[in-house]
Amino acid sequence: MEEQRKITKKYSNGEVTVVWQPHLCIHSTICFRGLPNVFDPRKRPWITPENADSEVIMKQIDSCPSGALTYMRANIDQENAIIDNETIVETTQNGPLLVYGNISIKDSSGNLTKKHKVTALCRCGASKNKPFCDGSHLNVNFEG
Ligand code: SF4
Ligand code: FES
Repeated sequence: MEEQRKITKKYSNGEVTVVWQPHLCIHSTICFRGLPNVFDPRKRPWITPENADSEVIMKQIDSCPSGALTYMRANIDQENAIIDNETIVETTQNGPLLVYGNISIKDSSGNLTKKHKVTALCRCGASKNKPFCDGSHLNVNFEG
C-alpha cells in the first residue's frame, strides 16, 4: 500500500467536529454506506457534517472499525461514550471480521491490547499488523 502521510483533518458543523486520519482508514466503506449524505468520497470535501444531525453523525463514526474517524463535541469524546455490553462479530464481504464491543486481544508474544467500539480483525491473512486488519485485503483482492 502507498505510504500515506499522517495528516489529520477536521470538519465541523459547529456542534460536532469530525476528525479524519486517512492513514488509519482500512477502506471498510462503512461510513459512506451508512451515511452517504455526510461521507462521500467522490466529493470535495468528502465529509460534510452540516448534512445530518450531530447525534446521527456520532453514531455512524462509532462504527468506524479503524479509528480513522473520530469526533469531538463539548468536551465529551468517544472514550466516554456508553458501550453496549453485548459483543457482536460481523463478517464483511471480502474484508475483515468486525467485532463490536469491549475485547482484549493477546498477540503471539503475549502482549495484551484492549479495544472498544469496533475492532477489525484480519481475515485475508495479508495484514502486516495481525491480528488487526490494515486494509491489505484490497491489495491482495481478497474474496470471501
Ligand atoms: S475505516 Fe472508517 S473511515 Fe475508513 S471507510 Fe471504514 S468507516 Fe470510513
Ligand atoms: S482482512 Fe483486512 S488486511 Fe486482512
